Amino acid sequence: MPWISAFEYAKATGVMNTHTAHPADSPAALIRLQDICFAYPGGKVVLDHLDFTLRKGDRIGLVAPNGSGKTTLFHIIMGLIRPDAGHIEIFGRAVKEEKDFVAVRQRIGMLFQDADDQLFSPTVLEDVAFGPLNMGKSKDEAISVSRRVLARLGLEAFENRITYKLSGGEKRLVALATVLSMEPEVLLLDEPTSGLDERTKQRLKDILRTLDLSYILISHEFDFMADTVTAFYTLRDGKIVIDSDLHHHEHAHSHPLGRQPHDHP
Ligand SMILES: Nc1ncnc2c1ncn2[C@@H]1O[C@H](COP(=O)(O)OP(=O)(O)OP(=O)(O)O)[C@@H](O)[C@H]1O
Ligand SMILES: [Mg+2]
Repeated sequence: MPWISAFEYAKATGVMNTHTAHPADSPAALIRLQDICFAYPGGKVVLDHLDFTLRKGDRIGLVAPNGSGKTTLFHIIMGLIRPDAGHIEIFGRAVKEEKDFVAVRQRIGMLFQDADDQLFSPTVLEDVAFGPLNMGKSKDEAISVSRRVLARLGLEAFENRITYKLSGGEKRLVALATVLSMEPEVLLLDEPTSGLDERTKQRLKDILRTLDLSYILISHEFDFMADTVTAFYTLRDGKIVIDSDLHHHEHAHSHPLGRQPHDHP
Protein backbone atom coordinates (compact mmCIF):
# COMPACT_ATOMS: atom_id res chain seq x y z
CA MET A 1 0.00 0.00 0.00
CA PRO A 2 1.44 3.38 -0.96
CA TRP A 3 1.08 5.06 2.41
CA ILE A 4 3.53 2.69 4.02
CA SER A 5 6.50 4.07 2.15
CA ALA A 6 6.53 7.39 4.00
CA PHE A 7 6.68 5.56 7.28
CA GLU A 8 9.23 3.06 6.08
CA TYR A 9 11.33 6.05 5.23
CA ALA A 10 10.77 7.77 8.56
CA LYS A 11 11.57 4.57 10.38
CA ALA A 12 14.64 3.78 8.35
CA THR A 13 16.08 7.23 8.77
CA GLY A 14 14.77 7.95 12.24
CA VAL A 15 13.80 11.34 10.88
CA MET A 16 10.67 12.65 12.56
CA ASN A 17 10.63 16.28 11.59
CA THR A 18 8.47 16.61 8.49
CA HIS A 19 10.57 19.49 7.31
CA THR A 20 13.56 17.28 6.71
CA ALA A 21 11.82 13.98 6.12
CA HIS A 22 12.14 14.08 2.34
CA PRO A 23 15.14 13.07 0.26
CA ALA A 24 16.95 15.80 -1.64
CA ASP A 25 15.37 14.90 -4.99
CA SER A 26 11.79 15.23 -3.67
CA PRO A 27 9.08 16.90 -5.77
CA ALA A 28 8.69 20.66 -5.51
CA ALA A 29 7.51 22.11 -2.22
CA LEU A 30 4.06 23.63 -2.68
CA ILE A 31 3.72 24.86 0.88
CA ARG A 32 6.62 25.43 3.22
CA LEU A 33 6.14 26.70 6.74
CA GLN A 34 9.19 27.49 8.81
CA ASP A 35 9.35 28.25 12.50
CA ILE A 36 5.71 29.32 12.71
CA CYS A 37 4.52 30.58 16.10
CA PHE A 38 0.95 31.57 16.80
CA ALA A 39 -1.29 32.32 19.77
CA TYR A 40 -4.79 33.83 19.60
CA PRO A 41 -4.90 37.19 21.37
CA GLY A 42 -4.89 36.53 25.10
CA GLY A 43 -4.83 32.76 24.49
CA LYS A 44 -2.30 29.99 24.94
CA VAL A 45 0.31 29.16 22.32
CA VAL A 46 -1.28 27.04 19.55
CA LEU A 47 1.58 26.69 17.06
CA ASP A 48 5.05 26.63 18.54
CA HIS A 49 7.99 26.83 16.13
CA LEU A 50 6.13 24.63 13.66
CA ASP A 51 7.82 23.40 10.48
CA PHE A 52 5.86 21.77 7.69
CA THR A 53 6.30 21.03 4.00
CA LEU A 54 3.68 19.87 1.50
CA ARG A 55 5.18 18.58 -1.73
CA LYS A 56 3.57 17.99 -5.08
CA GLY A 57 1.69 14.72 -4.96
CA ASP A 58 1.54 14.60 -1.15
CA ARG A 59 -1.77 13.47 0.32
CA ILE A 60 -1.41 14.03 3.99
CA GLY A 61 -3.83 12.95 6.68
CA LEU A 62 -3.63 15.25 9.70
CA VAL A 63 -4.91 13.55 12.81
CA ALA A 64 -4.66 15.29 16.15
CA PRO A 65 -6.88 15.91 19.18
CA ASN A 66 -9.59 18.56 19.38
CA GLY A 67 -8.14 21.97 20.05
CA SER A 68 -4.61 21.01 19.01
CA GLY A 69 -4.44 23.64 16.25
CA LYS A 70 -5.36 21.83 13.01
CA THR A 71 -7.88 24.40 11.80
CA THR A 72 -5.57 27.18 12.96
CA LEU A 73 -2.82 25.73 10.78
CA PHE A 74 -5.11 25.81 7.72
CA HIS A 75 -6.09 29.41 8.47
CA ILE A 76 -2.42 30.36 8.67
CA ILE A 77 -1.75 28.79 5.26
CA MET A 78 -4.68 30.68 3.71
CA GLY A 79 -3.69 33.96 5.35
CA LEU A 80 -6.94 34.22 7.32
CA ILE A 81 -4.81 34.72 10.40
CA ARG A 82 -1.18 35.82 10.50
CA PRO A 83 1.53 34.06 12.47
CA ASP A 84 3.29 35.88 15.28
CA ALA A 85 6.58 34.66 13.86
CA GLY A 86 7.90 32.46 11.09
CA HIS A 87 8.15 32.24 7.34
CA ILE A 88 5.54 31.05 4.82
CA GLU A 89 6.44 30.09 1.29
CA ILE A 90 3.78 28.92 -1.14
CA PHE A 91 4.40 27.79 -4.73
CA GLY A 92 8.02 28.82 -4.24
CA ARG A 93 7.31 32.39 -3.12
CA ALA A 94 7.34 34.06 0.26
CA VAL A 95 3.83 35.13 1.26
CA LYS A 96 3.54 37.96 3.74
CA GLU A 97 0.92 40.50 2.82
CA GLU A 98 -2.76 40.27 2.02
CA LYS A 99 -2.12 40.66 -1.72
CA ASP A 100 0.19 37.62 -1.62
CA PHE A 101 -2.53 35.59 0.10
CA VAL A 102 -5.18 36.69 -2.39
CA ALA A 103 -3.12 34.95 -5.07
CA VAL A 104 -2.67 31.90 -2.82
CA ARG A 105 -6.43 31.61 -2.28
CA GLN A 106 -6.93 31.28 -6.03
CA ARG A 107 -4.69 28.22 -6.15
CA ILE A 108 -5.34 26.55 -2.81
CA GLY A 109 -8.90 25.54 -1.99
CA MET A 110 -9.92 25.20 1.62
CA LEU A 111 -13.00 23.34 2.73
CA PHE A 112 -13.99 25.03 6.00
CA GLN A 113 -14.74 22.89 9.01
CA ASP A 114 -18.18 24.56 9.16
CA ALA A 115 -19.98 24.70 5.79
CA ASP A 116 -21.91 27.78 6.91
CA ASP A 117 -18.61 29.69 6.85
CA GLN A 118 -18.27 28.83 3.18
CA LEU A 119 -21.72 29.39 1.71
CA PHE A 120 -23.17 32.84 1.29
CA SER A 121 -25.00 33.11 -2.04
CA PRO A 122 -28.78 32.66 -2.30
CA THR A 123 -28.69 29.60 -4.55
CA VAL A 124 -26.37 26.64 -4.95
CA LEU A 125 -25.34 27.49 -8.53
CA GLU A 126 -24.54 31.10 -7.59
CA ASP A 127 -22.43 29.90 -4.70
CA VAL A 128 -20.50 27.38 -6.80
CA ALA A 129 -20.01 29.88 -9.65
CA PHE A 130 -18.87 32.67 -7.32
CA GLY A 131 -15.23 31.51 -7.16
CA PRO A 132 -14.70 31.08 -10.91
CA LEU A 133 -16.43 34.41 -11.62
CA ASN A 134 -14.27 36.08 -9.02
CA MET A 135 -11.20 34.64 -10.71
CA GLY A 136 -12.17 36.35 -13.95
CA LYS A 137 -14.01 33.59 -15.82
CA SER A 138 -16.93 34.63 -18.02
CA LYS A 139 -20.43 33.89 -16.76
CA ASP A 140 -20.82 31.05 -19.27
CA GLU A 141 -17.49 29.49 -18.30
CA ALA A 142 -18.25 29.84 -14.60
CA ILE A 143 -21.65 28.19 -15.00
CA SER A 144 -20.22 25.44 -17.13
CA VAL A 145 -17.46 24.52 -14.67
CA SER A 146 -19.94 24.76 -11.78
CA ARG A 147 -22.39 22.40 -13.47
CA ARG A 148 -19.57 19.97 -14.18
CA VAL A 149 -18.48 19.96 -10.54
CA LEU A 150 -22.04 19.67 -9.25
CA ALA A 151 -22.61 16.68 -11.55
CA ARG A 152 -19.43 15.06 -10.30
CA LEU A 153 -20.70 15.35 -6.75
CA GLY A 154 -24.14 14.05 -7.70
CA LEU A 155 -25.70 17.46 -7.10
CA GLU A 156 -27.15 18.14 -10.57
CA ALA A 157 -30.62 18.59 -9.14
CA PHE A 158 -29.45 21.09 -6.56
CA GLU A 159 -28.42 24.07 -8.63
CA ASN A 160 -31.51 26.14 -7.95
CA ARG A 161 -31.91 25.12 -4.34
CA ILE A 162 -31.76 27.83 -1.68
CA THR A 163 -28.41 27.32 0.00
CA TYR A 164 -29.45 27.99 3.57
CA LYS A 165 -32.30 25.50 3.31
CA LEU A 166 -30.02 22.55 2.51
CA SER A 167 -29.41 19.77 5.02
CA GLY A 168 -26.10 19.64 6.86
CA GLY A 169 -24.65 16.95 4.59
CA GLU A 170 -25.91 18.69 1.45
CA LYS A 171 -24.27 21.94 2.59
CA ARG A 172 -21.02 20.09 3.12
CA LEU A 173 -21.09 18.78 -0.46
CA VAL A 174 -22.05 22.14 -1.92
CA ALA A 175 -19.21 23.71 0.07
CA LEU A 176 -16.87 21.17 -1.52
CA ALA A 177 -18.29 22.08 -4.93
CA THR A 178 -17.51 25.77 -4.30
CA VAL A 179 -13.91 24.75 -3.64
CA LEU A 180 -13.54 22.37 -6.59
CA SER A 181 -15.09 24.81 -9.07
CA MET A 182 -12.05 27.03 -8.58
CA GLU A 183 -9.92 24.16 -9.91
CA PRO A 184 -7.35 24.45 -7.15
CA GLU A 185 -3.89 22.89 -7.25
CA VAL A 186 -3.92 22.09 -3.55
CA LEU A 187 -6.80 21.24 -1.24
CA LEU A 188 -7.02 21.82 2.49
CA LEU A 189 -9.91 19.71 3.72
CA ASP A 190 -11.05 20.35 7.27
CA GLU A 191 -13.03 17.27 8.31
CA PRO A 192 -14.67 16.77 4.91
CA THR A 193 -16.61 13.66 5.92
CA SER A 194 -18.38 15.10 8.93
CA GLY A 195 -22.11 14.74 8.47
CA LEU A 196 -21.84 12.64 5.31
CA ASP A 197 -23.54 9.26 4.94
CA GLU A 198 -21.58 6.20 3.81
CA ARG A 199 -22.61 6.48 0.17
CA THR A 200 -21.61 10.11 -0.01
CA LYS A 201 -18.33 9.39 1.76
CA GLN A 202 -17.62 6.75 -0.87
CA ARG A 203 -18.33 9.28 -3.61
CA LEU A 204 -15.97 11.77 -1.97
CA LYS A 205 -13.34 9.06 -1.66
CA ASP A 206 -13.64 8.29 -5.38
CA ILE A 207 -13.33 11.97 -6.24
CA LEU A 208 -10.24 12.46 -4.09
CA ARG A 209 -8.63 9.39 -5.58
CA THR A 210 -9.24 10.45 -9.15
CA LEU A 211 -8.23 14.10 -8.72
CA ASP A 212 -4.61 14.74 -9.49
CA LEU A 213 -4.24 17.00 -6.48
CA SER A 214 -2.04 17.43 -3.47
CA TYR A 215 -3.92 17.83 -0.23
CA ILE A 216 -3.99 17.90 3.52
CA LEU A 217 -7.01 16.20 4.98
CA ILE A 218 -7.98 16.73 8.59
CA SER A 219 -10.17 13.93 9.83
CA HIS A 220 -10.86 11.60 12.70
CA GLU A 221 -12.17 8.91 10.35
CA PHE A 222 -9.39 6.41 9.83
CA ASP A 223 -11.16 4.13 7.41
CA PHE A 224 -11.76 7.06 5.12
CA MET A 225 -8.18 8.25 5.40
CA ALA A 226 -6.72 4.79 4.83
CA ASP A 227 -8.07 5.03 1.29
CA THR A 228 -7.30 8.68 0.61
CA VAL A 229 -3.97 9.66 2.21
CA THR A 230 -0.40 8.55 1.72
CA ALA A 231 1.01 9.72 5.06
CA PHE A 232 -0.30 10.54 8.51
CA TYR A 233 0.93 13.59 10.38
CA THR A 234 -0.08 14.79 13.79
CA LEU A 235 0.21 17.98 15.83
CA ARG A 236 1.98 17.66 19.13
CA ASP A 237 2.81 20.58 21.41
CA GLY A 238 2.21 22.99 18.56
CA LYS A 239 4.50 21.16 16.14
CA ILE A 240 3.84 18.84 13.20
CA VAL A 241 5.32 15.37 13.44
CA ILE A 242 4.94 12.26 11.35
CA ASP A 243 2.90 9.70 13.20
CA SER A 244 5.51 7.01 12.75
CA ASP A 245 3.73 4.72 15.18
CA LEU A 246 1.46 3.98 12.27
CA HIS A 247 4.11 1.74 10.85
CA HIS A 248 4.51 -0.37 13.97
CA HIS A 249 0.80 -0.42 14.53
CA GLU A 250 0.16 -1.66 11.03
CA HIS A 251 1.80 -4.95 11.87
CA ALA A 252 -0.69 -5.55 14.64
CA HIS A 253 -3.80 -4.58 12.70
CA SER A 254 -4.85 -4.61 9.13
CA HIS A 255 -5.71 -0.94 8.96
CA PRO A 256 -3.65 2.19 9.59
CA LEU A 257 -4.49 3.94 12.83
CA GLY A 258 -1.16 5.08 14.18
CA ARG A 259 -1.21 6.04 17.82
CA GLN A 260 -4.70 7.43 17.61
CA PRO A 261 -7.42 5.93 19.81
CA HIS A 262 -9.77 3.75 17.79
CA ASP A 263 -12.24 0.88 17.93
CA HIS A 264 -11.97 -2.49 16.28
CA PRO A 265 -15.05 -4.04 14.74
N1 LIG B 1 -10.85 32.58 17.22
C1 LIG B 1 -10.27 32.07 18.31
N2 LIG B 1 -9.97 32.83 19.38
C2 LIG B 1 -9.37 32.31 20.47
N3 LIG B 1 -9.00 31.03 20.59
C3 LIG B 1 -9.26 30.23 19.54
C4 LIG B 1 -9.91 30.69 18.35
N4 LIG B 1 -10.03 29.65 17.49
C5 LIG B 1 -9.49 28.57 18.12
N5 LIG B 1 -9.03 28.91 19.35
C6 LIG B 1 -8.33 28.03 20.29
O1 LIG B 1 -7.11 27.61 19.68
C7 LIG B 1 -6.88 26.23 19.90
C8 LIG B 1 -6.75 25.50 18.55
O2 LIG B 1 -8.01 25.55 17.90
P1 LIG B 1 -8.26 24.85 16.50
O3 LIG B 1 -9.63 25.23 16.07
O4 LIG B 1 -7.14 25.17 15.60
O5 LIG B 1 -8.18 23.30 16.90
P2 LIG B 1 -8.50 22.00 16.05
O6 LIG B 1 -7.32 21.11 16.19
O7 LIG B 1 -8.95 22.38 14.70
O8 LIG B 1 -9.71 21.35 16.89
P3 LIG B 1 -11.00 20.49 16.40
O9 LIG B 1 -10.54 19.09 16.18
O10 LIG B 1 -11.93 20.59 17.57
O11 LIG B 1 -11.57 21.15 15.18
C9 LIG B 1 -8.02 25.75 20.79
O12 LIG B 1 -7.57 25.78 22.11
C10 LIG B 1 -9.11 26.76 20.55
O13 LIG B 1 -9.93 26.90 21.69
MG1 LIG C 1 -10.68 22.18 13.69
